[in-house]
Amino acid sequence: MSTQRVTAAAPVAVATAAVPALPAGDVPGGGMTPARAGWWQAWRARFGLAEVCGTIAAVGGFAAGYLIAGSLLAAAGLATICEAVGFYGCVGVKTAVAACRATAHLGGVQRLVAGAWHAITQQLASCAAAEALDTFVVRPGCLAGAAWLARPLPGGVWLGFAVGKAAADVSWYGMEASARRSMARAIPRAQSATPYVLLDLARATECFAELAAALPAVMVHYAVKANPHPRLLACLHAAGCRFEAASWTEVRAAIRAGAKAPEVLFTHPVKLADDIARAHKAGVWRFAVDSDTELHKIARNAPGSAVLLRVDARADGTVGDQGKFGIPPGQAPELARLARSLGLNPYGLAFHVGSQTMDPTAWHEPIRHCAQIMTALAADGITLAMLDVGGGFPVRYDTGPPPLADYAAAISTAAAQLPYPVQLACEPGRAIAAPAGTMIASVIGTAWRHGALRVSLDTGAFHGLIEALESGRELRFPVTIPAARDRPLVPCTLTGPSCDSQDTILDRVWLPTPRTGDRVLIGNTGAYTTCYSGRSAFNGYPAPAIKITRTAARPGRHTSHATTADHHTAELPCRVTIRGRPDHGRLSAGKPLRGLSSEGPCAHEAGRLSYAKQLATP
Ligand SMILES: Cc1ncc(COP(=O)(O)O)c(C=O)c1O
Repeated sequence: MSTQRVTAAAPVAVATAAVPALPAGDVPGGGMTPARAGWWQAWRARFGLAEVCGTIAAVGGFAAGYLIAGSLLAAAGLATICEAVGFYGCVGVKTAVAACRATAHLGGVQRLVAGAWHAITQQLASCAAAEALDTFVVRPGCLAGAAWLARPLPGGVWLGFAVGKAAADVSWYGMEASARRSMARAIPRAQSATPYVLLDLARATECFAELAAALPAVMVHYAVKANPHPRLLACLHAAGCRFEAASWTEVRAAIRAGAKAPEVLFTHPVKLADDIARAHKAGVWRFAVDSDTELHKIARNAPGSAVLLRVDARADGTVGDQGKFGIPPGQAPELARLARSLGLNPYGLAFHVGSQTMDPTAWHEPIRHCAQIMTALAADGITLAMLDVGGGFPVRYDTGPPPLADYAAAISTAAAQLPYPVQLACEPGRAIAAPAGTMIASVIGTAWRHGALRVSLDTGAFHGLIEALESGRELRFPVTIPAARDRPLVPCTLTGPSCDSQDTILDRVWLPTPRTGDRVLIGNTGAYTTCYSGRSAFNGYPAPAIKITRTAARPGRHTSHATTADHHTAELPCRVTIRGRPDHGRLSAGKPLRGLSSEGPCAHEAGRLSYAKQLATP
């Protein structure tokens, strides 16, 4: 089995990545990593020796069959059997050695089972799939057929044997590699119990409905970037939500969720040319731009499309955009004229005030600038059809944001000053996805440092909570430790699992003394968490998985998820009883403690406590 043009490197990389404990010896050949070494080295490491053994055995078998029985079919059959013995003898030994090494940290039956699973998933199953077709159809057919065809030539039988074997080998390696790849995709990576994000689809739908109700004149396009989970998108689509995408992959995700392509806004101001072309072909017709080069790109790849000019809104949200996107308002008319000259439709204006914007009046100034641009364009005979006011609607972390109605009022008051009416659109991400998610993590270690308890979790800035760094730790995620209710409060610094010293997600937070092994629930983590961490396992710690639910409690959008105040042990009697847990009635808002926010009357607290209770039993 000599040549294999299929990519051997990638599957080997997957196989080794799936078993972090695997020593480099699983890939013989000087410890070279398969991805770096290329497909040839990867193939040689995996099958080189087995191929040599198999080939020698096959030649012997063919010779014995042909010389003794004088039949090509017998020779082909015997060669196939001998090759299988030689090849699999070698593969078997290597697989067993690799399985032993990968499970060296286990013992007894556990090691046996883990070793068998390792051998099957890493090698044997893909070989078996390829072998089934190869042994009964491909190889005997290729060997006998090629030898028969080449018979008239001098030494034709042997020539035919060699050609037939080469053809069968290429086919075998192709089948084996594709079977291995499919398995790597199908078998989920061994995932530890935590961290994971529990995503409540019903809650996301509610948040969408609340937004849509508060902003009835504004078309809501969910910003897919916040959380592109297919079930979340499908759920939002079913609830009547539209989508805003930043890449073809996101456009496709929206379409797969059931959205009609023409209703998707493609609003990343800088897109890949291919993405524009694909989206255009699929039916997307509205693209955002903030430069002449992007206009040219769109004119080339999506001729005749409509463009939304992205205006710099001087974003000032808690997670701001650092002035990365948007043109100064004064340059918009020039860009609109260029769009028209390129055969594009200057369709609208867009801006984004920055994520988690706590001040509703932040929309005033950008909308006022848009009004001025519209007036200037009208002088050129250009009438716009849409104003996209972006995302940025906040959710509650430690501080409650103003009510949604204030945002709606701010936007409609400012929009009333536009020189003529346009369709308003918005692109909320966080406000829909964040409240739907709860990160479930575990404490992996604690130590007193600088007057605070350093609590290391198995999730952190590089495992889903990068926004802690992006916001300078301004996003103070609500934290609950269900098992620690009765322990004394201590000041804590919550850090991630990595060995990176930047990996701190919350400081100066009072929690009931966390202990190693405790489950920690981090609220409002449905947005910008799992999509950032992807599947990367920085420092060898797995990225959080996503688990779907539809059953979490439903506090109002701006009411708190479980907050640190839920652990307040300084109890005040409170006239609340919570189904099945009357003792919870004694956990009240309590006296404010340094580092804790504990607002709201008892009735409100009951909602928070019942929510905390739900979180505790995912
Ligand atoms: C252009 C644009 N629209 C919408 C959003 C979504 O913002 P949020 O999740 O704060 O609603 C973002 C976020 O970065 C954005 O850049």
